[in-house]
Amino acid sequence: MRSSPRSGRRRLPALALLAAAVLALPQAAAAAPATAQADTLGAQAALSGRYFGAAVAAGRLGDSTYAGIVDREFSSVTAENEMKWDTLEPSRGSFNFGPGDRIADRALARGQKVRGHTLVWHSQLPGWVNSTRDANTLRTVMNNHITTVMNHYRGKIHSWDVVNEAFADGGSGGLRGSVFRDVLGDGFLEEAFRTARQADPSAKLCYNDYNIENWTDAKTQGVYRMVRDFKARGVPIDCVGLQSHFGTGGPPASFQTTISSFAALGVDVQLTELDIEGASQAAYSSAVRACMNVARCTGITVWGVRDSDSWRTGQNPLLFDNGGNKKPAYHSVMSVLGGA
Ligand code: G3I
Repeated sequence: MRSSPRSGRRRLPALALLAAAVLALPQAAAAAPATAQADTLGAQAALSGRYFGAAVAAGRLGDSTYAGIVDREFSSVTAENEMKWDTLEPSRGSFNFGPGDRIADRALARGQKVRGHTLVWHSQLPGWVNSTRDANTLRTVMNNHITTVMNHYRGKIHSWDVVNEAFADGGSGGLRGSVFRDVLGDGFLEEAFRTARQADPSAKLCYNDYNIENWTDAKTQGVYRMVRDFKARGVPIDCVGLQSHFGTGGPPASFQTTISSFAALGVDVQLTELDIEGASQAAYSSAVRACMNVARCTGITVWGVRDSDSWRTGQNPLLFDNGGNKKPAYHSVMSVLGGA
């Protein structure tokens, strides 16, 4: 991290201008004065109290270009697949923490934070869970998974996606069908969050989903109603993860409204899986600006490092090209974060 080089003679007027600008800005943006500059995404985001992370795949960490970017640029990592149920508990009661530990321990040793992704999700779920149709058994299985995994990583994870993608696409605004919903009913969500709080009180507990970025969508409204209900009844929830997988146009016009509306319920908001088809500078700028403009939007994670690492094959949605070079969108993001 370095300060902007400025002569003493220019400093006074610059500070006066800055003071005026700060008064006119919302709280979060005010925490990142335009003169503050850092050399990396993580360091730059830290100047406004935010993290900037990436999804990391254990199998790629042997690639020195990949690992070099991860270590240099990001202040938080999310295991792209290694903390999902099918990897962590492939058969009942038999836990495999190796790949997840590799990512978490490596990050923590370098001073990076770790996001936990994800405890309860209908996908990447082993067959033995899907075929558990007795409610008491499934409740025990779900709670044991949450408790065992969170105990293992206790104190190491800043935020856990406790439940992922539980809401249905389309106009219903309700939950999607899944073994959890079908066998346990809608109450599985509340039970998962209550169990999670007991297992690791130091971790922020998030609900994470995609296509909840456009404020008026039924799915967004359904999640909003759930969070409002949880807060009203004292069900523990600390954050909402907006995955933010966008097409070429980037975020919808209402994106900041969505972020600020969730934040107004008393939860943090995190952009948890940001990637944008084509990675235009305007689209990335607009996504990051929306977060910067809301004090409780506390961090951003991009879903991969280089385009060649992305799950969206051929769409070039990330901040680094296949050779590991910074793309134009990288510089736009730095600029919106308040950097060079
Ligand atoms: O590990 C096996 C490998 O052994 C096998 O040879 C290979 C053959 O297909 O598959 C490998 O597993 C793949 C795994 O990624 C690891 O590379 C799976 O097939 C593949 O389905 C899996 O895709 C992941 C996807 O979630 C699964 O739903 C993506 O990497 C991952 O980026 C993606 O991430 C999700 C978030 O968790 C939730 N939100 C949406 C996001 C994008 O889909």
